[in-house]
Amino acid sequence: MKTIGVTMSEPAERDTLCFFVNGKKVTEEHVDPETTLLSFLRQKLRLTGTKYGCGGGGCGACTVMVSRYRTSNKTIVHYSANACLMPLCQLHGAAITTVEGVGSTKTRIHPVQERIAKAHGSQCGFCTPGMVMSMYTLLRNTPQPSLDDITEAMAGNLCRCTGYRPIVDGCRTFCQEVNCCQVNGGKNCCSEEEKYDETPLLFDKLDFLPLDATQDLIFPPELILMAETDRPQTLTFRGERMTWKSPVLLEELVQLKTSNPKAPLIMGNTNLGPDMKFKGVTHPLVISSIRVLDLFEVTETPHGVWVGAGYTLSETRAILNKFCCQFPEEKTELFRALIKQLGNLGSQQIRNVATLGGNIMSAYPNSDLNPVFAAGNCSVSVINSEGKREVPLNQDFFVSLGKTILKPEEIVVSVLIPFSRKGEFVRAFRQAPRKKSAFATVTTGMRVMFSKGSRIVEDISIYYGGVGATTASATKTCAAIIARPWNDETLNQAYDILIKEFDLPPSIPGGKAEFRRSLTLSFLFKFNLEILQTLRKMNVIEEEVTEKIEPLPREIQRSQQEFHNVSEGQSEHDPVGRPVMHRSAISQATGEAVYCDDLPTIDGEHFLALVTSSKAHAKIISVDVSNALLLPGVIDVITAKDIPGKKTRILCGYDEDVLAGTQVSCIGHIVCAVLADSRVHAKRGASAVNISYEDLPDPIFTIEDAIKQSSFYEPRRKIERGNVTEAFKGVDLVHEGEIRIGGQEHFYMETQSMLVVPVGEERELNVYASSQWPTALQIAVAETLAIPSNRVICHVKRLGGAFGGKVVKTNILACITSLAAWKNNCPVRCVLERGEDMLITGGRHPVLGKYKVGFQKDGRILAADFQIYTNAGNAVDESVFVAEKILLHLDNSYNIPNLRGRAAACRTNLPSNTAFRGFGVPQGACIVENMIHDVGMALQFPVDKIQEINMYRGPSLTHYKMEFSPENLLRCWDECKVKSDYNGRCDAVDKFNQQNRWKKRGIAITPIKYGIGFAEGFMNQGAALVNIYVDGSVLVTHAGTEMGQGVHTKMQQVASRELHIPPSKVYISETNTSTVPNTFPSAASYGTDANGIAVKNACQTLYQRLVPVRLKNPKGTWENWVSEAIMEKISLSATGYHRGADSHMDWDKMEGRPYPYFTFGVCCSEVELDCLTGDYMTVRTDIVVDIGQSLNPSVDVGQIEGAFTQGLGLYTLEELKFSPSGLLYTRGPSQYKIPAVCDMPLSFNVYLLSDSYNPHAVYSSKGIGEPVLFLGSSVFFAIKHAIAAARKEVGLTGCFSLNSPATAERICLACAAPFTQKIQASKTGSVQQPWALNI
Ligand SMILES: Cc1cc2nc3c(=O)[nH]c(=O)nc-3n(C[C@H](O)[C@H](O)[C@H](O)COP(=O)(O)OP(=O)(O)OC[C@H]3O[C@@H](n4cnc5c(N)ncnc54)[C@H](O)[C@@H]3O)c2cc1C
Ligand code: FES
Ligand code: FES
Repeated sequence: MKTIGVTMSEPAERDTLCFFVNGKKVTEEHVDPETTLLSFLRQKLRLTGTKYGCGGGGCGACTVMVSRYRTSNKTIVHYSANACLMPLCQLHGAAITTVEGVGSTKTRIHPVQERIAKAHGSQCGFCTPGMVMSMYTLLRNTPQPSLDDITEAMAGNLCRCTGYRPIVDGCRTFCQEVNCCQVNGGKNCCSEEEKYDETPLLFDKLDFLPLDATQDLIFPPELILMAETDRPQTLTFRGERMTWKSPVLLEELVQLKTSNPKAPLIMGNTNLGPDMKFKGVTHPLVISSIRVLDLFEVTETPHGVWVGAGYTLSETRAILNKFCCQFPEEKTELFRALIKQLGNLGSQQIRNVATLGGNIMSAYPNSDLNPVFAAGNCSVSVINSEGKREVPLNQDFFVSLGKTILKPEEIVVSVLIPFSRKGEFVRAFRQAPRKKSAFATVTTGMRVMFSKGSRIVEDISIYYGGVGATTASATKTCAAIIARPWNDETLNQAYDILIKEFDLPPSIPGGKAEFRRSLTLSFLFKFNLEILQTLRKMNVIEEEVTEKIEPLPREIQRSQQEFHNVSEGQSEHDPVGRPVMHRSAISQATGEAVYCDDLPTIDGEHFLALVTSSKAHAKIISVDVSNALLLPGVIDVITAKDIPGKKTRILCGYDEDVLAGTQVSCIGHIVCAVLADSRVHAKRGASAVNISYEDLPDPIFTIEDAIKQSSFYEPRRKIERGNVTEAFKGVDLVHEGEIRIGGQEHFYMETQSMLVVPVGEERELNVYASSQWPTALQIAVAETLAIPSNRVICHVKRLGGAFGGKVVKTNILACITSLAAWKNNCPVRCVLERGEDMLITGGRHPVLGKYKVGFQKDGRILAADFQIYTNAGNAVDESVFVAEKILLHLDNSYNIPNLRGRAAACRTNLPSNTAFRGFGVPQGACIVENMIHDVGMALQFPVDKIQEINMYRGPSLTHYKMEFSPENLLRCWDECKVKSDYNGRCDAVDKFNQQNRWKKRGIAITPIKYGIGFAEGFMNQGAALVNIYVDGSVLVTHAGTEMGQGVHTKMQQVASRELHIPPSKVYISETNTSTVPNTFPSAASYGTDANGIAVKNACQTLYQRLVPVRLKNPKGTWENWVSEAIMEKISLSATGYHRGADSHMDWDKMEGRPYPYFTFGVCCSEVELDCLTGDYMTVRTDIVVDIGQSLNPSVDVGQIEGAFTQGLGLYTLEELKFSPSGLLYTRGPSQYKIPAVCDMPLSFNVYLLSDSYNPHAVYSSKGIGEPVLFLGSSVFFAIKHAIAAARKEVGLTGCFSLNSPATAERICLACAAPFTQKIQASKTGSVQQPWALNI
């Protein structure tokens, strides 16, 4: 082994790591310090319940509970942590509990697992173990938590399926205050029970197991003994590239650091870890100081409190809280400001491991604590071999990005947090892209000290984070305030100086320059108001302070899920129509459910890592793999030349490379792949491949670029009804507008994953993949390898979410993986990391919609003309179909007599976009709805009136001449208005807006008419195979893939009904191309429709075949009949098939019947927003949906809530950012924010329309996967309504433009508060290239 830069230790030194996992002792002698707990659990211990979702602490899928014994006070502490950032070596002496240690179906499940599952909080289930662990840890510390405790514990756990409501409802059953009938959204309390006992509930809490502490694993006594008796000594662990030293004594630590000044101190690893993982930083030596007790001391002095730098942020918060209880408020101003920041910093998992010293020394530009420390005159005590010194945490401390003034060998021992003095006030504010678990865009600490009893400022300090490379002091602004009275005149001058002090250029990393500047002013204004209020309260000033800033509401209310009981005559054994739990929910909650990457390693298995292009548009000059092949473990590099069969996949007449040949057309284009004996080696090999390029001219990134260069995928589509040109001549008013709807990342929690295993003597391949379309995968692999399809068997057990992203995109990845397996004749696994997945696989199409609308003064729209462009990326994929679907939904719910739409898919040099839940409708319908809102604003009519005037009524024809009845749409509309008390709340919103200057409310109601199924008729088919075995058990296989949408649960219900047996006798193992061949994807909200009838047919065939034995033995049991049937030579295996609707669309004639039917829905949302920061909260959402006769209300409500939440993300949160050279910046949950539990509407109600029937689908149900996603736009339009109210305050009325997503940035700028206007007026007209493209 090469020598590393460790100077003090003897090379042979190696220690044993000892810790416990789920009560079992683990001793490791050869630990590589680069190993994380997550990879150790999953790969070494085969505990695969703990999931990989992002690897960077941002998603919570890997949450475990860490327990430690503290010798200082002889207590055991339990805390949640992200296993993906937890270095294994840090765990010496700790006990880890994973989801497997909490409960199991083989022993006993834990109440947390049971309640999340039974409350329907697990759909795809990939997030569920993490959710269980966060909640379990909370209960270990707080057996009866409050709702706030729960939402705080779960703030760092992302779920892409559920919309969080059912998870929260399951967990809140542990809260003391709700242990009554109000659980599950009951409107009324137990006292009124009799009156409402007819209301069906989605789950019955009386079924739940009680919380029983005896079920918990005890902390291993051996670890207590070890902590109490072992002679503490420095531990050393050596790996391939890194050595780990963990001393116990401060002197040793100082000595180590002195001899190795470049070696970082590793504490929570929340900064070092991501740097090593994502930026490729390597450290030959790291020094862990978590065992050095001197870093864990709290010392009180007359001036303040010294808090040890080793304390985690959670512990720091607890320490500060304790002091706040002990001391009068006036002494703890700074403490409270820090507590506020600590409550919003990162997630609980992060705060439980990230340390105070680590946060300061990471010197993040947008650290939440450093501006407050600096403003609050804090200082640090540091030590090195020369001794100790105290260094103030001021503007001189932070010298550049990630750098402080301290010498490399200096160690921060503790931080002084001073007590505040009389007349001194400290505040902190932050604004982040998401309310919780997100780095701040701008954050601040502000402190002012007044001369005794006066409003004269004696001292002031203001620091910001997020305005440059370091925590920055607003020194000039402070100078303008000091020694002056705190009044409007002083502050107004201060604002003007502040504008100049932080004149951020458009190219500033992170972008949002104007917004960030506005925030600096807004925070100072908020500080001003808070200080004025305080001075008034203290009678220092006499004038009334009328303006007030109140926080946004955040208390979660009761939600309702209204559905209808099955008919009285239905057999109690028949599960159809009942809220049956997802069939795998329990095994998902116990971590036993198997996802693709949970499959055990196969003998001889290798791992594949992809090498992608770093250029958007270039010729490949050479691919040098020599360095990669020299690295340990690297076996082969797979290139396009290795492909024996088709080198491209063809879609819509366009080729897409399996592996790039001579040219690359986007950053993320796959060039080659490295095969190695482990993931780590494959990754290292991939980074060592050297590709040289020659840039090609004029890469196209934006829609505007594409239009300019006429870069489109053909055919471009047009649709028209009536005579639009003529109609415009006769209208009262004409308005033109446009809106951009940004793209969206699927962010399925399970990244693209596959395992390809060569089997058999005739070169068969078993492909295990997370795919929505196994048949397409089979065809693609067979064609790439030039083998017949009958040698390729694709297996899909379940997917950890998909949302359209695993229909087409998985195919090429599977081709490459199969190629590696084929060439090397070994099993090959390929699992994308989150960043790769986001970079390579594309997502929802960004869209630019332009429109011209002609309308009458009474609100009737007579003509509308749309031009729509989608940014399709470098391959056509399904982009032409997406554009078509946009056009087919251009009417949304409105009967516009003269309607024209044109749609073009732009070919650009960005990663190719693909199918995404809603398939273009969420973008297209949003453009239509925006137009409706413009008409309302132009006429100054309430928008709902414009909607009602133009809505379809009576027997109707769509713009492509398809007949339909809008009756249920109108019923949803009316019901939604009533259930949400729309009219009453509109008045309340107006009143609120009159009374509040800086906060505004908005309300919007939005309809959707959504075509179910594929417009390409041949895809509307389903198939099933049902086998009855001799013991009476039934195995169902069908074409649908289970990705959380509950299709297997529904199929089980169908089989149970048709065979008249309990669902427990019906099993669904997987989707498999060898049992049900030639299938179509689970997509277009059509999976249940297609396969439900197929399963029904197969079961009916079988039940019919049993007639003779049933007649012979009418009182016999199912098992009797089955065994008798075998004796009678009756086949107990049957296929079922559903030849679905022959949908069609003739684009030349512009007419057709592309969908068998429509699903309707209407949603009303109300928001409250903070005009100064753009922050908002959805206070209430009511959704009424027509889904016919629900097969399973719990699954359907779950789909509705989940789709709505994904829509809410699309329209208000999720923002993809590309660099000017076409690189996706947003490649993980740190940069890309999907909704978290904090984004859930505070009151979230779903009602299934009663008495609706549908002849086109199984048992009169309707497809529901996609339609509701668009209804998330009700939040967007409610925000727009609130912004309009804010604009009115500054005299701005009429139409204004707001692009989607309505992020805090866009909201704040659109509100046009005086500060924002000042910023806009101060623009220097900089010609610098903005940091990000507007694609
Ligand atoms: C998902 C995620 C979300 C986050 N959100 C936020 C947020 O909202 N706001 C925010 O402010 N921060 C946020 N952070 C950053 C987090 O707070 C810091 O990474 C953390 O505080 C660093 O502490 P650590 O113990 O993990 O440091 P480590 O990663 O272990 O070390 C970081 C650096 O500090 C040095 N160091 C550590 N201790 C000492 C010491 N005692 N003396 C000298 N040097 C020392 C190390 O040498 C190293 O260079 C987030 C991080 C993640 C991963
Ligand atoms: S995988 Fe650990 S937080 Fe996402
Ligand atoms: S159930 Fe939460 S991510 Fe799928």
